[in-house]
Amino acid sequence: MTDNSKINRDGARPASLFERADAAFGLDPRREGLKLPPVPIDVPPVPQALRRPAPQPQAAPQAAPQPAAPSFAKAPAPQPVAEPAKPAAEAPRAVAFAGPFARIDREHLRDGGLIVPEDPVTGLLEEFRIVKRELLADARAGASALARRILVCSPHPGEGKTYCATNLAIALAAERGLEVLLVDADVVKPSVTQRFGIEAEQGLMDALADPSIAPENLVIRTDIEGLFVLPAGTATSRDAEYLASARTGAVLDRLTVGAPDRIVIFDTPPALAASPAAELAQHVGQALLVVRADETSRAALEDAQQLLSACADIKLLLNAARYSPSGRRFGTYGTKGR
Ligand SMILES: Nc1ncnc2c1ncn2[C@@H]1O[C@H](COP(=O)(O)OP(=O)(O)O)[C@@H](O)[C@H]1O
Ligand SMILES: [Mg+2]
Repeated sequence: MTDNSKINRDGARPASLFERADAAFGLDPRREGLKLPPVPIDVPPVPQALRRPAPQPQAAPQAAPQPAAPSFAKAPAPQPVAEPAKPAAEAPRAVAFAGPFARIDREHLRDGGLIVPEDPVTGLLEEFRIVKRELLADARAGASALARRILVCSPHPGEGKTYCATNLAIALAAERGLEVLLVDADVVKPSVTQRFGIEAEQGLMDALADPSIAPENLVIRTDIEGLFVLPAGTATSRDAEYLASARTGAVLDRLTVGAPDRIVIFDTPPALAASPAAELAQHVGQALLVVRADETSRAALEDAQQLLSACADIKLLLNAARYSPSGRRFGTYGTKGR
């Protein structure tokens, strides 16, 4: 790769983090595998939980569009969607998450710079709301469970993968009726449970290594409505092989099939340093490639994009933007290092 230039932010008048990244890198959005859809700033709230229209034309339009809570109000406990009394034994039923329960210390979240569900709306939350709308729209448009699986990746360590994945998961969990499962797929340097300040032993790698383990029993339920965590679990020298095995697809299917209101987010190790991101790219419908302003080189970005090419929909997310475009009220986002 030849171009090692850093991001040039001059003159960018972005409307969203996605567009900022596009403007900064000047990548051609039409190139294969890279999707950079424009994000309108004033996106109306998604009125319903993620729900695709029934395929049958005769389906009655039940579920009057409920306006989403105007602020960060807690939704009532998400009940699994009532099974329509269909004759089918066909539709697979979603497995319920049945691991241990953990309380998340809000002060710990605050200290870590993460979104705190009960706090007043912040610029940070506004940013992630915009990002989540975009992801949700594409998840809803997708025909399979694949579109509801989102990989969060970046070329190098320290670019904000875990920061973005956790914030995105918290922001998504606020959607009415949505279940968000955050999977820590960075088995070498797992940090999701640490960010949430919760304890965990077993997780993804245990379920991959031992077919007798039901992955849903390792999913930690939290006191943030709709938020679930699958820890990385026990690392072994065979992690790469386990991730590359057919068992990965089976485990992910088990966690997502039959659950149209469930989004899975994967926090991964750096794409240029380890194989899990590239492996998991085959199992997701959307990949969020985090780029850190002034730190991620274009060459590294292109290499990472190449590695994730098994995923047809790669979006760029600019993290830690330190500028404040005029007219924007999100200037507080990404202030680290000032
Ligand atoms: N936008 C941001 N604002 C503030 N801190 C950030 C931001 N992005 C990342 N960080 C911090 O930078 C550090 C590295 O981020 P992290 O998400 O752990 O990177 P990665 O997972 O890519 O290795 C963490 O301490 C994280 O909290
Ligand atoms: Mg990380």
